[in-house]
Amino acid sequence: CGVVGYVGSRPATPIILEGLKKLEYRGYDSSGVAVLDQDGLKVEKKVGRLAELEKALSGRELHATIGIGHTRWATHGRPSDINAHPHTSNDGKIAVVHNGIIENYLQLREWLSSMGHVFKSETDTEVIPHLIEYFYKGDLVEAVQKTVSHLEGSYAIMAISVDQPGRIVAVRQDMPLVVGLGQGENLLASDIPALLKHTRRCYLLNDGDVVELKADQVIIRDVTGQVVEKEIFEVTWDAEEAEKGGYDHFMLKEIHEQPRALRDTLKGRISHAGDKVILDEIKMTPEQIKGIKRIMITACGTAYHAGLVGKYVIEQLVRLPVEVDIASEFRYRDPIIDKDTLVVVVSQSGETADTLAALREARRRGARVVAVTNVIASSVAREADDIIYTWAGPEISVASTKAYTTQLVAMYLLALYLAQERNTLAAGNIKEILGELKSIYAKAQEVLDNVEPIKEFAKQYHKAEDTFFIGRGLDYAVALEGSLKLKEISYIHAEAYAAGELKHGTLALIVENIPVIALATQQSLFEKMVSNIKEVKARDASVIALAMAGHTEVEKVADQVLYIPKTHQVLAPILTVIPLQLLAYYMAVYRGCDVDKPRNLAKSVTVE
Ligand code: G6P
Repeated sequence: CGVVGYVGSRPATPIILEGLKKLEYRGYDSSGVAVLDQDGLKVEKKVGRLAELEKALSGRELHATIGIGHTRWATHGRPSDINAHPHTSNDGKIAVVHNGIIENYLQLREWLSSMGHVFKSETDTEVIPHLIEYFYKGDLVEAVQKTVSHLEGSYAIMAISVDQPGRIVAVRQDMPLVVGLGQGENLLASDIPALLKHTRRCYLLNDGDVVELKADQVIIRDVTGQVVEKEIFEVTWDAEEAEKGGYDHFMLKEIHEQPRALRDTLKGRISHAGDKVILDEIKMTPEQIKGIKRIMITACGTAYHAGLVGKYVIEQLVRLPVEVDIASEFRYRDPIIDKDTLVVVVSQSGETADTLAALREARRRGARVVAVTNVIASSVAREADDIIYTWAGPEISVASTKAYTTQLVAMYLLALYLAQERNTLAAGNIKEILGELKSIYAKAQEVLDNVEPIKEFAKQYHKAEDTFFIGRGLDYAVALEGSLKLKEISYIHAEAYAAGELKHGTLALIVENIPVIALATQQSLFEKMVSNIKEVKARDASVIALAMAGHTEVEKVADQVLYIPKTHQVLAPILTVIPLQLLAYYMAVYRGCDVDKPRNLAKSVTVE
């Protein structure tokens, strides 16, 4: 979910709606606003996209200069008008928006009900305005402080009250929330892009901070109730970057931004002589680096797939055992970790609840944590020991593209850095891979310059209901990402299989004309892949193969072949995934899907 608040002298509703649009990647199944004017509290909320809320508000006189808004991704209670935020107190004087989950809401609800409070929705959030009302004795800040002392779970909360006009009281715990500082006006939002139109000056908040936001004053109290002075954080990047820039969808724009993103992520990280990785952000001592006994990588979704590539690469170049685990599994499986384990968490947003919990679990158990993230000062960045930023720029489309390829770059840099510091790879080999890495963005551009065959294939097969992605080694890791892309945006069933494993069961599903995307970029496994392609061809599948330039033998077995420019085989995933991203994109477009906002998904899942 995403939240926005405004207090100042301009009409609040359009500013809030605009902010919510920037936050739609955080959820978009319903939305709502609450504003305060001289007539009291006004709440409007609607199931569906923000446009539904805009429709409901159109034609209204919108003079209120203070308000709060919410865009929802349902957890407790299905998407509906009633379950949409804001929620109000029993007396209807207090309105609240909330991002997160209140774990003990059922007890609180029973307790409040026994005192005569009546609840309208199925949400966990509704207990919050009721509690604030219960604790309110003339001071909204105090009532919010007392309320949160009874809440278990995670939250970014904003509250307004008819009895305390002119202020928004907000608090955060394990959920993102930033303050935007304006001239005679102030804002609150789940993240910086929602504020950028109005200000570049922000306060970043800590867990437990309670904010009292007025038009001309922002007071922040920490968890102990002490007023704290915050440093102003100046945003240097550009709001323009977060707009579509002529492309039909953010996803397509972000796919095409990859050469730039790759170059930025590499910038300053390879020595002039091209023989060394420079990762000044890693603060580990040489002894600590030498003391690492094993590595665990944990993440969710696409970031997890980047971690899988990381495993192959680190094991190969550093000869350390690497385990990769999905963060929601890792956090509950009593992982075996100690101070000699290096834990790498990968998260585009840096706010994914499961990933953040995994990071905390790892640190609690004494491991050192390196975070790979795209968002400066995100929760993951703030809590890790070391950070490798990916410089992909804001990624808006739910389906991750440029974040993934820059995460791959981070994996290569980390692997090569560890290899260099632990002397596990000859200097010549490091130099050779770095040389290839330096030109990878230009090769990514070559792949992007050749979209027609992919578009054609998409056109031909967009009605398919089942597809298979097969590959071996690094190609298998990329196959998983390719199939996820297709599933999430085109809703076509896609399975990724380690090609050698097909014959142990899944081959039963290969029937005439079923599209099989065969990845055969790994030179050392090329012959094996050719055999696997023959296996599926023998069952009359339609095979499109991806191979490295020069490996023309594959044309004899596959129906169609796409070539990626020649590079070191370890780096092939960066180039291989691009046609797969484009394939998913065009399939979804031909099927008429909402590419940037696939059903049931959210860009950043800050709840468990
Ligand atoms: C959501 C998104 C995915 C993303 C995953 C992890 O599920 O829809 O695209 O890969 O979260 O997000 P993170 O921000 O931690 O990389």
